Amino acid sequence: MNFKQNRNDVDALLAAHFSGFGKQVQGWRKEFDLHQCVKIGNFIPHALQADLHKEARRLLAEKAERRNVKIASTGNTPRSYRSVGRDAIRATGLVTPALFHSDTLLMLLSIIAGEKIYRIPYAPEEYIINNQCGPGDTHGWHWDDYTFALIHVVESPNPLSGGRIEYIQNVIWDKMNSEKCVKKALENRLITSMHVQSGETYFMKTNTTLHRISPLTEDSNRIAIIYSFASEDDLTDPSIEHATMEVIYPTDTAAHLVQSLGKEIS
Ligand SMILES: [Fe+2]
Repeated sequence: MNFKQNRNDVDALLAAHFSGFGKQVQGWRKEFDLHQCVKIGNFIPHALQADLHKEARRLLAEKAERRNVKIASTGNTPRSYRSVGRDAIRATGLVTPALFHSDTLLMLLSIIAGEKIYRIPYAPEEYIINNQCGPGDTHGWHWDDYTFALIHVVESPNPLSGGRIEYIQNVIWDKMNSEKCVKKALENRLITSMHVQSGETYFMKTNTTLHRISPLTEDSNRIAIIYSFASEDDLTDPSIEHATMEVIYPTDTAAHLVQSLGKEIS
C-alpha cells in the first residue's frame, strides 16, 4: 500500500484492524498484568507495516547519528547504536508520528495496560528509531522515564547473534544509587530473554522493568521504533527527569527547552 495518508487515515486503518482482535485482547491484558511485557505478532496491520518499515529505513539512511555513550543515570550502562531522534522523524515522517497520535492505538494500549494511557508531555521522547548493526552494539540496562513503551521491530537480528530483549520486572529505579540498583537486580533476579521477529511489536511497563537489548555478537541488524507513553501519575510526577535523553539527543532536548522557555515568557 502506498500511503499518502494523514493521521485520520492511519487511525481508521488501525480501528478496522484492531476490531478483528476480539478475545485476544483479554489474553494480552492478562499477560501484561503478569509479566509487565507482552509481545503481539500482528499489532500493526501489514498494509501499514510496509510504509512504516520503508520510512524507518529512509530516515536511518538520511538522518541517523551514531551514539557511543555510557549513561550515568542508569548505572553507567552503554548505548551503542545508530539513532534518529524525534524531531528528524517528525520533520519528514508520516506513518511513524501518525501511530503516536492515533487515539485508537491509545485506547487499545489502555485496555492492555488496565489503566488509561496518555501521550507523554515531553516531545523529544515521543518516538525514536534505533539501529544496532555491528558487534558490541547494545542498548544497555536501563529504565525509561515514562511508564509505558510500545516497540515495533522493523528488522530483527539473526537470533544466534544477540540483540535480544532482556528484562527483569518489578525493579524500582533508585536514581540516587542506580549502578548499585542495576548490579543488585542482575545478581539476584531471573532475567527474561526474548527474541522479537521483524514485524512484531511489544508493549512494556518500562519505568519499573529493568531492560536492555543485549549486545550483537557479530554483524547483524536490528531496527526498532520506540514509542513512549505516560500513565496518569506521570503527568504530574515531578521526579521524572530526562537526563538520558539529554545525553543521547542533545539537539532535540535543547530545542524543546528553548520552546518551553519561550512559551513561559510569552
Ligand atoms: Fe527502554
